[in-house]
Amino acid sequence: MTVFALASAKGSPGVSTVAAALAATWPAPVVLADVDPAGGDVLWRNRTVAGGPLDPDRGLLSLGAAVRRGVSETDLAEHLQQTATGADVLVGLTAPEQGGGLGGAWGQLPAVFRQHRTDVLADCGRLVPGTSSMPVLTGADAVVMVTRPDISGVAHLRERLRSLRQPLGLGSPGGTPVGVVVTTSYRDTRSPADLQQLLDADGLHVVVLGIAADDDKGAAVLAGERAGQFRRTLLGRSGLQLAQRLAAGIRTTDAAGGR
Ligand SMILES: Nc1ncnc2c1ncn2[C@@H]1O[C@H](COP(=O)(O)OP(=O)(O)OP(=O)(O)O)[C@@H](O)[C@H]1O
Ligand SMILES: [Mg+2]
Repeated sequence: MTVFALASAKGSPGVSTVAAALAATWPAPVVLADVDPAGGDVLWRNRTVAGGPLDPDRGLLSLGAAVRRGVSETDLAEHLQQTATGADVLVGLTAPEQGGGLGGAWGQLPAVFRQHRTDVLADCGRLVPGTSSMPVLTGADAVVMVTRPDISGVAHLRERLRSLRQPLGLGSPGGTPVGVVVTTSYRDTRSPADLQQLLDADGLHVVVLGIAADDDKGAAVLAGERAGQFRRTLLGRSGLQLAQRLAAGIRTTDAAGGR
């Protein structure tokens, strides 16, 4: 189904947190795929249904080995693990050194994800030139960049968006749609509109989707470090709004005869 790639331009603005929040609030079954070449967090922030640790050997690494045997025979479902929250996850790398072993499999991941029966949210990590997860981004149906609203966060985002448009075509008219999520206080009603204005003035065809509330309690509940109902937290509520907007936005484009 639909593949969403999530990434950041610089720093750690909360990509993995937004990806997990979206997975926890998505309006339909969804897979959270950890494809951050720097090493993933899904393994450390989730537990099995029985409460134990996830298996580090079943995930991106085992999928990469299967992809090398043939994309059409590869079933993503065989490499997923169900977590205590009910989410299906693809566990990522435990160390960046493991990424080299995936080789050409990186480029096949969008096709394997698209073959799956549910939408896939792929956490691609931080985008630096030559990053291994770039093919997931360029092959996705939609890209979501996560940023903080401060000047340096926005400046790096702008530069990265420019470089994604030229020559990759991401965020250009008719190209892969690009959205932006701002990690900020739930009281911050200005940043999304200000950022949208700035990006529009730059001629970047990018939609600011909204905020992921900066919320320690919500982040702790999401990571299983604290008990509570995630959807009732500030982060959970903002995650639900983002999930609905993102899922509906892409479906609208589908209906309009787009991707
Ligand atoms: N919305 C939020 N509210 C509270 N804490 C947050 C939020 N988003 C992220 N954090 C915290 O900030 C830290 C970094 O978040 P996260 O791992 O999601 O960032 P990232 O962009 O994926 O970073 P990296 O590039 O290192 O993978 C974590 O400790 C996380 O709990
Ligand atoms: Mg991350």
